Amino acid sequence: MNVHDSEQLAQLLEGSGYTTTGSAKEADLIIVNTCSIRDKAEQKVYSQLGRYRHLKKGKPGLMLGVCGCVAQQQGERLIGKIPYLDLVFGTHNIHRLPEFISRVANTGRPVVETGFHETVPSIGILALPEKGSVSAFVTIMQGCDNYCAFCVVPYLRGREESRKFHDILAEVRALAVHGVKEVTLLGQNVNSYGKSLGNGHSFSGLLRAIGEIEGIERIRFTTSHPKDLSDDIIACFRDVGALCEFIHLPVQSGSDAVLARMNRRYASADYLDCVRKLREACPGIAISSDIIVGFPGETEQDFQKTLDLMGKVRFDTLFSFQYSERQGTAAVGFDGKVDPDEKRRRLIELQSLQDRHTQEKNDRLVGSTVEVLVEGPSRNTSRDAMGRTRTNKIVNFAGGGNLVGKTVRVRIVEAFLHSLRGEMLD
Ligand code: 5AD
Ligand code: SF4
Repeated sequence: MNVHDSEQLAQLLEGSGYTTTGSAKEADLIIVNTCSIRDKAEQKVYSQLGRYRHLKKGKPGLMLGVCGCVAQQQGERLIGKIPYLDLVFGTHNIHRLPEFISRVANTGRPVVETGFHETVPSIGILALPEKGSVSAFVTIMQGCDNYCAFCVVPYLRGREESRKFHDILAEVRALAVHGVKEVTLLGQNVNSYGKSLGNGHSFSGLLRAIGEIEGIERIRFTTSHPKDLSDDIIACFRDVGALCEFIHLPVQSGSDAVLARMNRRYASADYLDCVRKLREACPGIAISSDIIVGFPGETEQDFQKTLDLMGKVRFDTLFSFQYSERQGTAAVGFDGKVDPDEKRRRLIELQSLQDRHTQEKNDRLVGSTVEVLVEGPSRNTSRDAMGRTRTNKIVNFAGGGNLVGKTVRVRIVEAFLHSLRGEMLD
């Protein structure tokens, strides 16, 4: 989501005559787009801003700004902490960046704007990816009303609001004309798309409509809350040809007691039910998830239940985190805070189990033929091409000519933890 917000900022700035540079030293304007989902992400912002301080000294005209969730949360306090900042603007004010820049230029004083709007105007900024890009993000909703006890998002991104159905379709059509082959639909909880519109539109309806757009070969979405994963949405994995066989479905914990305290509003059996239905509708679907260890009150038995659930589901990939206390969330007041060393131990144990599962899943693909959409040169060596399977696995293979944007058949010859190696067949 933040990557897409940054694309929209770049688009706005282009409209004001700016061009992008790969080097901070050359820049006249630097905006740090921030995340505060966990404390570690927030701390990175401060160290990055520290690195820009000397640039500012050497080039007094350089404008330095912070936007996103840390800006939203800290507001004026950021200027107190980092007096050389020129701009601080929150998640609902991206669209006003050109105006903020003029204000700083005219007054020489910092601008701080962290107000919330009913509708986030930047939701409609069409940020066309660079010519030749294969994939694009499309925002379909903003904000979140779920208030999971650990999560700061509802406070920093505001209330849930769906974007208009026809605006989304128009954007996807424009992307297809631009040459985009794959869209990733973005929202904090895409499954509840349409609820705030009150006109009968739903996420499954949106998936079916996008599935009809010519040129869009692959549809992905993120993120999906298990409590709102309807049978209708699950059926799309069977019926909508372009919908990739992949879902990111955060479970957070395998313990019902922890899930209840997290305010997730499902039990582990409900989650396993979702997984069973998904696999019935779409055999071979890849499933990834998010898990938090060390949530307040999580006992060793609770943690074991999470490992048990992982054994039952066998995720393809997993993002796992130590619980990090966030200001303003319900869990701040909860008893039973888990010792940091214990959180670390649990995370290491959980990640080593997941590594075994991921490797097993990848090993099973050796010898099979997969469809790969080529995204660009491989990170390892630019002589090789890199693409993804429909199940979202990275494949590197020797590929001559310009294959970017092409869908090719590749036989998998070797499996690693984070990627596969293949040989092109076509
Ligand atoms: N501490 C640790 N992890 C968190 N997440 C969200 N809030 C916190 C927190 N306070 C994780 C959740 C979520 C993912 C995006 O980040 O697992 O799904
Ligand atoms: Fe945060 Fe829960 Fe909303 Fe996801 S659904 S953004 S975890 S409050």
